[in-house]
Amino acid sequence: MKNMIIFSTLILLFQVALYNCNAEKCDLKGKWKNELGSNMTISVIDKNGYFSGSYLTAVTTQKKVEIKKSPISGVMVPSSQPIFAFHVNWTFSDSITAFTGQCFVDSSGERLETMWLLKAIAGSSDDNWASTRVGSNVFRRLI
Ligand code: BTN
Repeated sequence: MKNMIIFSTLILLFQVALYNCNAEKCDLKGKWKNELGSNMTISVIDKNGYFSGSYLTAVTTQKKVEIKKSPISGVMVPSSQPIFAFHVNWTFSDSITAFTGQCFVDSSGERLETMWLLKAIAGSSDDNWASTRVGSNVFRRLI
């Protein structure tokens, strides 16, 4: 009876270990596209979680500008589903966007669920709120 209990416990521990080994890890690095059609590449992540890359937005608040690829810079907190924050310094517009979010991987696939805040340069503090936008984007991995 004692051997039976030890054997069952070992089997259970083995199954838990196997499950943890198979648990998917969400990886920020790579090419991503959001529901607006914007493309983002996270190219380098250093050992402290700091990363850089580029962002090509599909939309802009500006009229008559040529959209250009812009640099991103951010940091992630390591986990199987890491949280992160990054900003995009738009090279073609006097504005900046800060994103925060989490990388999820489950039956709906690998994705970055984000919220963002865009701040454009206002002429004066009276226009501060008018020059601020907020929203959310979901990015899916491009293969
Ligand atoms: C600007 O219009 O001033 C710069 C481009 C802003 C693009 C925004 S950032 C949040 C949202 N998500 C995107 O992919 N593009 C827009």
